[in-house]
Amino acid sequence: MLSTPDTPLPDAALSWYPLDQLPAGLQTGHELIDREHRTLLGCLDALRRLCIDLPGMTDCQSCSVERRHDCDQHLVSMLGDLIAFILDHFQTEEKIMRDSLMVMLDRDVCEAHMEDHANISSKIQEIVMALDPQRTVVRLRELENLIERWIENHIRLHDRLLVRWIELDPPLTAA
Ligand SMILES: [Fe+2]
Ligand SMILES: [Fe+2]
Repeated sequence: MLSTPDTPLPDAALSWYPLDQLPAGLQTGHELIDREHRTLLGCLDALRRLCIDLPGMTDCQSCSVERRHDCDQHLVSMLGDLIAFILDHFQTEEKIMRDSLMVMLDRDVCEAHMEDHANISSKIQEIVMALDPQRTVVRLRELENLIERWIENHIRLHDRLLVRWIELDPPLTAA
């Protein structure tokens, strides 16, 4: 069925599944981290399916009241899941930094990495604070840009560096 501004969202739009494949440039080689990054790509995929015209709409005025309500509720739900995901995922990576002793032996690199985690978290909080059912599409675009930058910059730089470090031979591990 073709989606229009009057079409309520299907329930499936609520779900974001991990994607099967991670592009080669984003693979760290760490099974758990890569699995969690696939989930993040699944979130990006789901949010792009939420709006009928994510790149083109300036606000939500042309959509029906019902549709606006649905989109707002779906975005609230998605942000809740994303915040839970972030807490878990950033804890996973920061625990690896501590367990591998990287946080002691390469402190500056770890601090820059954790600072970027904090920046991503606070940007998501800003989006939550600015939620407005009339402007859901604007918040969706902000979230899309944030996740794209997170994937392009953070994973490529910080996360791959972390995994390269723990794969050093001989490995350095906490007693
Ligand atoms: Fe990270
Ligand atoms: Fe990550």
